[in-house]
Amino acid sequence: MDASPRQQQDNFKYDQVSSYVMTLIDKGTLKAGDRAPSLRKLSNTLKVSISTISQAYLSLEDKGVLKARPQSGFYVSAHHDQSIKTPKPIISANCQPRKVRFGQLFEEVFAISNNPRIAPFAAARPSMELMPEKALIRETRSVLSRFPATSLDYCFPPGHDRLRSQIALRYADQGLSLSADDVIITSGATEALSLALHTVARRGDIIAVESPTYFSVLRLIEKLGMLALEIDSDPETGINLESLEYALDTMDITAMLLVPNFNNPTGSLMPEANKKRLMEILNTQQIPLIEDDVYGDLYFGDTRPGIMKNYDSENRVLSCSSFSKTLAPGFRMGWILAGRYHEKLLEWKQATSSASPSLQQLATAEFLQSGQYERHLVRLRKAFREQVAKARFMIARLFPEGTRISAPQGGFVLWVELPRHIDCFEVYTQALEKNIGITPGMLFSATRKFKNYIRINCGNPWNQELELALEELASVIKNIKS
Ligand SMILES: Cc1ncc(COP(=O)(O)O)c(C=O)c1O
Repeated sequence: MDASPRQQQDNFKYDQVSSYVMTLIDKGTLKAGDRAPSLRKLSNTLKVSISTISQAYLSLEDKGVLKARPQSGFYVSAHHDQSIKTPKPIISANCQPRKVRFGQLFEEVFAISNNPRIAPFAAARPSMELMPEKALIRETRSVLSRFPATSLDYCFPPGHDRLRSQIALRYADQGLSLSADDVIITSGATEALSLALHTVARRGDIIAVESPTYFSVLRLIEKLGMLALEIDSDPETGINLESLEYALDTMDITAMLLVPNFNNPTGSLMPEANKKRLMEILNTQQIPLIEDDVYGDLYFGDTRPGIMKNYDSENRVLSCSSFSKTLAPGFRMGWILAGRYHEKLLEWKQATSSASPSLQQLATAEFLQSGQYERHLVRLRKAFREQVAKARFMIARLFPEGTRISAPQGGFVLWVELPRHIDCFEVYTQALEKNIGITPGMLFSATRKFKNYIRINCGNPWNQELELALEELASVIKNIKS
């Protein structure tokens, strides 16, 4: 049915208001975080009623362009700022396998993250304010009182059947038909990654990783006496497949370890076509792939990105994940789908850590089964998306000219490229003196190449205290001389 002339006129007016505001944003007149013109002012300018402007603003808010703040008006959402530059990819001319040698800095970054007096921009850690604390307490109490013996008893590998079934069920949404038998429960993703490395490689072997890569992975490679081969990566699309193919042709690589969805620290997301191609490349050389998908559920777009398991025609992927970034880091509930390496990995699990905590497994299973987890994820994704967007906006405004900021499509960390003369270790040390934590970029490479980069955790809702800490961090950075 055609719209009435009145309706058509209204639609025309809404469009007029929307395109007026969008033009202001596109031209850069209105930047992320700026207050959009007041209803009254725009009504005078465009000669349309206040209620039409208000409707148009509400629909721009629905589209994520504007954000209403109570009693304050409408503001441009931070992720609509096209003017913020993203970090450049670093292409290494000479990529060679290396021994990793981290000093105490690695432990120190974790230690400062345990200190509540230090502003929490260091560890990639979600705020407990965002977690369903009450519901988890309820489920934990409930399983403890209903199944006291099972809750307190040993639960040997592969882990509790109820939790493994719930995890397997969640993969159905991604088109994977799995059963509880495919899942092994681990102590966080960290243990899953460690078991995977133990299973497919040994001392002296070369492990290909993306660069930059999550520093705990480099630390693991160091401690297991393996060698890290860092492959160039794009901060937006992840690993460079040509560089990988070249490395595979020239070196004897035993396994690859990768975060395809929202890499830590860059937030890069591999396009699905690249994931498929990567699997073809690895399959031709029969190389196992350890996939770390801890951030996969934290996408900002409409759909969840696929995992490497989706393309794993030869069952060579060991897919690791956990509930640490989405539910309760302290529960240490992780898991692995080990494919063809399942039996061997189980042996490592039994030998190295044996049972996993029963109470946490049961409580997590209840939480998943009740449908609360999916509802919680919807809220969490929205919170992270807004926190990251706001951080980008503030960093762009506060940090020195020449700063580049990643534009992640999921997760909750930002990778910040500072002007070349700024040494991240200096930033780290001076910020720490002011009780502000950050992670220096050099930790994300065995060659310590990201000297002028830092990673900022945006896992906490912004408040005045955190905003002040970010401002102070900006002045630390600005005061560093070349
Ligand atoms: C990419 C990545 N993998 C694994 C982990 C560790 O996860 P968990 O706490 O479950 O061991 C982290 C935590 O920062 C991470 O960023």
